[in-house]
Amino acid sequence: MSFLQGWMRRGLQTVEGWLDGLFGPQWNPLYQLGALGFFYFWVVAISGIYLYIFFDTGTTAAYESIDYLTREQWYLGGVMRSLHRYASDGMVLMMVVHMLREFALGRYRGPRWFTRVTGVPELVLVFIAGISGYWLVWDQLAQYIAIASTEWLDWLGIFGEPIARNFLTPASLDDRFFTLMTFIHVVVPLLLLLVLWIHLQRVTKPQINPKRGLAAGTFVMLLALSFVKPAVSHGPADLSTVPSVLQLDWYYLVAYPLMDIFSEGAVWVFLGVLGLMLVMLPWLPPLRRTDEAAAVVDLANCNGCERCANDCPYNAIQMRPRSDGLPFEQEAVVDAALCVACGICAGACPTSTPFRRATALVPGIDLPQRSLRALRERIEAIARPLSGRRRVLVFGCDPAVAVEQLRRAEVAAVSLPCTAALPPSFIDYVLSRDLADGVVITGCRDGECYNRLGIEWMAARLAGSRDPSLRRRVPRERLSVCWAGSGDRSRLERMIEDFQGVVANLPAPEKPISGPPSGPPRGPEAGRQGEKIDA
Ligand code: HEM
Ligand code: SF4
Ligand code: SF4
Repeated sequence: MSFLQGWMRRGLQTVEGWLDGLFGPQWNPLYQLGALGFFYFWVVAISGIYLYIFFDTGTTAAYESIDYLTREQWYLGGVMRSLHRYASDGMVLMMVVHMLREFALGRYRGPRWFTRVTGVPELVLVFIAGISGYWLVWDQLAQYIAIASTEWLDWLGIFGEPIARNFLTPASLDDRFFTLMTFIHVVVPLLLLLVLWIHLQRVTKPQINPKRGLAAGTFVMLLALSFVKPAVSHGPADLSTVPSVLQLDWYYLVAYPLMDIFSEGAVWVFLGVLGLMLVMLPWLPPLRRTDEAAAVVDLANCNGCERCANDCPYNAIQMRPRSDGLPFEQEAVVDAALCVACGICAGACPTSTPFRRATALVPGIDLPQRSLRALRERIEAIARPLSGRRRVLVFGCDPAVAVEQLRRAEVAAVSLPCTAALPPSFIDYVLSRDLADGVVITGCRDGECYNRLGIEWMAARLAGSRDPSLRRRVPRERLSVCWAGSGDRSRLERMIEDFQGVVANLPAPEKPISGPPSGPPRGPEAGRQGEKIDA
């Protein structure tokens, strides 16, 4: 499985690289697949409402009403029909790529199982909605789908009477069938919306709208396709004949030829096994590492500032009324079942400053197995032996390039569960204590952060637009940021080498700066009262 994931990830990153070059990271569709899915959904919904106004239910009326829109009202009704079709296809494409991408990036294990598993009914609902849409047109393709689908369902033997019988002769079909199909075609997308809402319950600030440029570009593309290749019907359905040449929509109808080639039973087994595997995936090997224990709050160091709750990408932290008598209104509480142990909360906590004395470096929130105190010790241990004027300390993250394996003279590296688990004050600490001449921050590729918001939060903290921000006194020329995926190792190595050249040529700092100039953090910066800060 790991081999398959690694192989898929490399392929994905190659394509992402091409699309980055073509559209730029901001508009790269692969970085906004879920948001694009929502966008397609809304296009389908709006165009569907328009079609519904003109749609007549009935064995002949259905075909005629759609045909009227396609031919007589091609400039609006026809375009709406094409938009409806192509946006629905777009949804399937987006969903499948989104699912494969989340798999390749390994974003489905541990507490993330919930988002993964709730994606599976979405797949089913999208297919039911799409297939029922094809029935409504009641052309020869609809006839083929109706017969094949009912025979497929009849294979289960759960209906008293075989339902395929309804399509034996024109007389056996009545208008109620269209009313039923219309009902399914309207209700299923509403159900889908509900499941989508559930799908996003465990992610904070989900991106449900694509960037404006990407949305506009996607819409123009759909519109252009609608004019160049409008969606049209086959000939009207005729139950006294067997439809011959059919243009299948491969997005929705891919399983139908399989029923002809194999059998209805074989397709049931295939889809059943596939569905089971999709659901079971989060629990299949390789399993979650055992050292990923949930974050723990130390109330004595928590002032209830809410930063951890605001930065947690998985809704794992709630703010509750204070329970320990300290003079703060609230306290952070971690739901261990939701925590993926990314450490972003520890990176956000104002008490996570390495300038605190060794005994006191207990932040308000921390990862028990990868504490900030241990991080500070590790930094000291690996950076102290460096010598020369090209000493660089690299902070990376586990899912991206394995930075600790970077072998280069005068370079030390430490990997964190997520880059944003690094409080910016650690950068200040490394440079002001002269532990290195420069600091490199790296992590996943921009747009594919394993922990969803890690890169965004870290970039904002470094830019000073999000707390805790990097102090102004930190010499920015001694800091370099390179977002690089696991396949970008050589790019990162080249960048580090270039950066070493830059720092070697910088004038030496007058003297190592010691301790924060403005004293212990105050206000929301304050941790435990009376805490000692190293000078
Ligand atoms: C109409 C279909 C779907 C839509 C609109 C959709 C939408 C989304 C959105 C907006 C996110 C959050 C992205 C972010 O901001 O980080 C997301 C995450 C995710 N989705 Fe979907 N999704 C769909 C189908 C699926 C399917 C079919 C699966 C898999 C079976 C799936 C699995 C996931 C996973 C694993 C995540 C990542 C959760 C995490 O990072 O912890 N989704 N989806
Ligand atoms: S002090 Fe730290 S643990 Fe407490 S709410 Fe603020 S960020 Fe969270
Ligand atoms: S480590 Fe912190 S930020 Fe990450 S999921 Fe757990 S509580 Fe949320």
